[in-house]
Amino acid sequence: MSNANRYTGLVDRYRDRLPVSKTTRAISLNEGNTPLIKLDNIPRLIGKNVEIYVKYEGLNPTGSFKDRGMTMAVTKAVEEGSKAIICASTGNTSAAAAAYAARAGIKAFVLIPEGKIAMGKMAQSMMYGAVTLQIHGNFDDGMRLVKEVADQAPVTIVNSINPFRLQGQKTIAYEIVDALGRAPDYHCLPVGNAGNITAHWMGYTEALTENFSFEKDQVVYDAEADAFTGQTPIGRPIMVGYQASGAAPFLRGGPVENPETVATAIRIGNPQSFNHAKAVVRDSNGWFDELTDAEILEAQRMLSMYEGVFVEPASAASIGGAIRDIKAGKIAEGSVIVCTVTGNGLKDPDTAIKQCEDAVMLSIDAELNQVRDSILSNM
Ligand code: F0G
Repeated sequence: MSNANRYTGLVDRYRDRLPVSKTTRAISLNEGNTPLIKLDNIPRLIGKNVEIYVKYEGLNPTGSFKDRGMTMAVTKAVEEGSKAIICASTGNTSAAAAAYAARAGIKAFVLIPEGKIAMGKMAQSMMYGAVTLQIHGNFDDGMRLVKEVADQAPVTIVNSINPFRLQGQKTIAYEIVDALGRAPDYHCLPVGNAGNITAHWMGYTEALTENFSFEKDQVVYDAEADAFTGQTPIGRPIMVGYQASGAAPFLRGGPVENPETVATAIRIGNPQSFNHAKAVVRDSNGWFDELTDAEILEAQRMLSMYEGVFVEPASAASIGGAIRDIKAGKIAEGSVIVCTVTGNGLKDPDTAIKQCEDAVMLSIDAELNQVRDSILSNM
C-alpha cells in the first residue's frame, strides 16, 4: 500500500515556504498539524457571542510548540555540519532540543534554572539523552551564558535568536488560516522570550500571499528600521500578548530583574525578541496585558474542567486573558478568536495536583457498597 499521504512534518509540508532546498534532509518527528479546537462551553458560560478556538500545541511530539521551531533549527544545523546544539530554557525548548538532537544523532546541551522547571520537562531532557546543566540562576542568566559560550565551543545555538526557529514556528499561522479559511480577528498568546508572537505575525503576514516565493516574500524583522519587511497587510489578526504579572517586562517597559511566576515556562525578565514583539503589537493594533498567578491557574482549571483541554499554566494565560478581555468588551462580540495553548498540561503535574485540593478524590475499600455509595452521593 502506498503511504504517499502520510503526514511527515512541517519541513516537508511547507518546504517551499521555508529556507530549505528540495533535497534538504528534514530532521522531523512529524510535528505540527495540531488540532484547532472550537470551545463549546466557555463562550456560553461567559454569556458572550464569540467564536473561540484553541490551537492545541501541547499535542506536538514533545508536548509544546517548540517542536515547530526545533525541526527547522536542527534540520539546518545538521545541513550545515553541526555536531552539537545548545540552548537555555525554562523547560520546553530544552525538551524539544534534546529530542531532535536524539533524532539527528547529535549532541544537545541544555541550560535550565535549577529547581524552576516542571518535572515532566526535566524527565524529557534526561530521557532524550541531553547533557543537562542546571544553573544557579534564571533563564535570562542561561541565555547570556549560551551566547557567550558559543564563541568558545563548537555548538549551534537553538534558542529563538536562531532565525530558523521562528521560520519553523511561523507555520502555526499557515495552519490556522488553512483551517478557518481566513485569519482570525484576534490572536491571543502567552509571551515569555517573545519569539512566538513574532513568528505568528510573520506567518500571518505570509499566509495569504498567493504564489508565495521564499526569496521574495518572506517576512523578517529589520532591527534598524524597526519594521517588518514584506507585503501588504491583508487579513491579519489583532495580536494580543499576555504575561504573568511577576514576569511582565512588556508591561513594565523594560527588563525585569527577578522574574517570578507559577507559570515557570514564561518566567523570563529580559526577552530576546523584545523589539520584534513590540512592533508586532504596534503594527496589528494589539496590546499586552498581564495576569496574576491566581488568574492563570483559574484559566488552566477552567479550560480543563469545561472543555477537556489540559494545558500547562503558561499556556492558560492566553485563554485567561482572552476571557477577561471578552467580558470587558475589549474584544468585541461577534469576533473570531484563536488562542495558542502552547504546552501540554502533563508537563507540570505538580502544579496541577496542588491546585486541585477540592477535586473529588476518595479513598475507599475495594468493596461494592463503598463504590456504589461513592457514586450515588456524588451524582
Ligand atoms: N508557553 C510555553 C509553554 C513556553 O514554554 C514558552 C516559552 C512560552 C509560552 C513563551 O513563548 O518565549 O516565544 O514568548 N518557553 C521557552 C523555553 C522560553 O525555554 O521553553 P516565547
